[in-house]
Amino acid sequence: MEERAPRPGLEGVVVCDTRLSLIDGPAGRLVYCGHEVGDLAAANTFDEVCFLLWHDRLPDPAERDALRAELRSARTLPSYVRDVIARLPRETSPLAAVRTAISAVAAEAPDLSTLDGPDRIGIATSLVAQVAEMVVAVAGRRRGEPIPPDLSESLTARLLFGLTGRPPVPEDVVVLDQVLLLHAEHGLNASTFAARVAAATETDLHTALCAGLAALQGPLHGGANQRVMEMLEDIGEPAAVRGWLDDLLGNQGRVMGYGHRAYKVIDPRARILDDLCRALSARKGDATWLAISHAIAAVMTDLRPNLHPNVDFYSAPTLHLLGIPKELFPCVFAAARTAGWTAHILEQLADNRLISPRSHYVGRQPVS
Ligand SMILES: CC(C)(COP(=O)(O)OP(=O)(O)OC[C@H]1O[C@@H](n2cnc3c(N)ncnc32)[C@H](O)[C@@H]1OP(=O)(O)O)[C@@H](O)C(=O)NCCC(=O)NCCS
Repeated sequence: MEERAPRPGLEGVVVCDTRLSLIDGPAGRLVYCGHEVGDLAAANTFDEVCFLLWHDRLPDPAERDALRAELRSARTLPSYVRDVIARLPRETSPLAAVRTAISAVAAEAPDLSTLDGPDRIGIATSLVAQVAEMVVAVAGRRRGEPIPPDLSESLTARLLFGLTGRPPVPEDVVVLDQVLLLHAEHGLNASTFAARVAAATETDLHTALCAGLAALQGPLHGGANQRVMEMLEDIGEPAAVRGWLDDLLGNQGRVMGYGHRAYKVIDPRARILDDLCRALSARKGDATWLAISHAIAAVMTDLRPNLHPNVDFYSAPTLHLLGIPKELFPCVFAAARTAGWTAHILEQLADNRLISPRSHYVGRQPVS
């Protein structure tokens, strides 16, 4: 068979059809199941977007309320999962702790081949509820103050309470819900591809989700939001931005929250998050972080006009202003993206073929 040179990073390679999202990189557009992401952010909630991804249509009010009830009742974690989280070494990264907890519940995961569509969506629903609750448990362990189970709050209110350790104000819950909605789905990014590859082997949904989480963990993907906050803290004030960026870029460093494989203009989610963060900064009376972000954006236009902010650039100051510790930012990403991962896994299984590409051998030939 003819050997072909690989495409590094699979750039430009089309791997599958999907109805879940359209990324128009040159135009800076993102569409979830036929809806512009900006329209969804203006009018809908994260749970409605979960429904949209799983059913390919938005819910009516009765369906939305039923989903909300299901997301509450599916929240309870088995006690052995809480034990697993409690016994992990303190230095375990929060995202690794969540991944380990999902591996633990995978022991009880049903065989998807025996389930029909609605039951599969039921498992996806329980995973969204459980991943958020695992994040709550991991955040509580990190603080040394777990918060007691509560089935009365919405998923987003419970998540924000768990992440900060304080009962949230309703306005902050709305902001976090928008952040979750904007992170719910994004084409065939590294973690979604990893989850689909695992799903295509016909493993269970939980295990395929672990593959997605493993790929999310690196700083080039889901770890970037935490790194953006570290950068803002390190810079400290707008006046220090120019010198800081000159040093970093002079040493071939990467500006976290900048650049994207698909978008060659500003990421549409970054635009929405910038506006969200402006309003939040004004409400909290703390303009420091956004001022540094905007100073970086101004200098980057000058130094690297072809690079633009991605979703992490403005989600980091937004999450910080909500009172969420930066080490937990990647867990927020994971809780949101569980919606997209589960939708992709179910889509893969609906018309499955093992994903098994080829490599190009560049090793030595045997001596004959
Ligand atoms: C997202 C990212 C991994 C995409 O990578 P990619 O499509 O493989 O692009 P490449 O790594 O090939 O980068 C292309 C060029 O842009 C430069 N570049 C890309 N992102 C950059 C950044 N954030 N800061 C500085 N330079 C950057 C690279 O150095 C490279 O330059 P070169 O051609 O002179 O070597 C990359 O932009 C990045 O590392 N960003 C920072 C991490 C981040 O924010 N991740 C979250 C993504 S949502």
